[in-house]
Amino acid sequence: MVDIPSAQRSAVRRKLLRWYDRNKRDLPWRRQQGDPYAQWVAEIMLQQTRVDTVIPYYVRFMRRFPSVVQLGEAKHSEVLKHWEGLGYYRRALYLHRAAQSLCKEKQRIPETSSTLQSLPGVGVYTAAAIASIAYGEHVAAVDGNVARVVSRLFGVSHDIQTRVGGQIIQHLADQLVPPSRPGDFNQAWMDLGSQVCKPAWPNCDQCPLLRDCDAMATGRVGELPVRKAGKVAVIPVKLVAVVFCRNGRKLVQKRDTGGLWSGLWEYPTSEREAGKKLDDLCIGLADEYEISLAGKPKPIGKLRHQLTHRSLSFEVLHCDVSDESVKRDRRKLRWATDAQFEKLSVSKAYRRIDDLYRTSSNKT
Ligand code: ADE
Repeated sequence: MVDIPSAQRSAVRRKLLRWYDRNKRDLPWRRQQGDPYAQWVAEIMLQQTRVDTVIPYYVRFMRRFPSVVQLGEAKHSEVLKHWEGLGYYRRALYLHRAAQSLCKEKQRIPETSSTLQSLPGVGVYTAAAIASIAYGEHVAAVDGNVARVVSRLFGVSHDIQTRVGGQIIQHLADQLVPPSRPGDFNQAWMDLGSQVCKPAWPNCDQCPLLRDCDAMATGRVGELPVRKAGKVAVIPVKLVAVVFCRNGRKLVQKRDTGGLWSGLWEYPTSEREAGKKLDDLCIGLADEYEISLAGKPKPIGKLRHQLTHRSLSFEVLHCDVSDESVKRDRRKLRWATDAQFEKLSVSKAYRRIDDLYRTSSNKT
């Protein structure tokens, strides 16, 4: 088991909390941080369910059942009605039963991560999340997202789904949680894992721990975390690549060293979020690069590209822009002509995307 030197521990805590203070998502349960009931309901809803899906359910549920007593006194049919569509209905049953039992026994919600685990439906992770966020308990909440971040940050080569792999991750995470702000620190991991250190398509250039990351330094971001030794899981990834053009030049970006396609050039690309329109994704990317669109994005085509661990499905768009004043780090961005793009180092996937773009622009 690795002991993290105290200087490294402090640096990770400081960077991650500073990043969280600037980038944390505004989520309804975060406005009720000291309320254990609010955290309990949120963490139960968030089990196996995406944050975006949970938000409207959470708001409606808390409006109708704002306290343990109101939940405990409600009929189960009404609790279920408020859960309808969220899935995994056993969660609602356990939550309701636990509230009924607390009301009957005139007990408060347990106040430590170990006693919280006595509630039905509350496991180690959920208890740690509630205890750290609501009561400030100094405990690490490690779920799949956090395990991925920690495994990359420290270059853990063990399968994180084995007992030993899990213990290594837990030991590292335990050392990192700061005695002050443990709840914020745990939520910072969660946000970093879901917004930046994503499974298949991480945004390493936005990561506050880029320079501390072992996977980045050793070029293993795409290989970590290790899961299910022996079996290679191929993760499907849906992406949108946009060819932003101005005066016959195309905006291209150089990838950071260390990750997938280390140091190669590519078109601005974003993960295709479920339910989000292509136009909105394109506008989001333009905002990120601080460029203004001069027309509507045009779909050019689709292509699939197979990597060892990922099956990438690209939708390719073209969009004219009205200025070239990209303000981000200029060393990593260029406006390239077709001839200049030919000379850059580009992955096979983006060569294919460029071929698609050039074929379509020759046709028009
Ligand atoms: N996923 C699980 N718990 C969460 C929380 N408290 N905030 C954001 N994402 C989460």
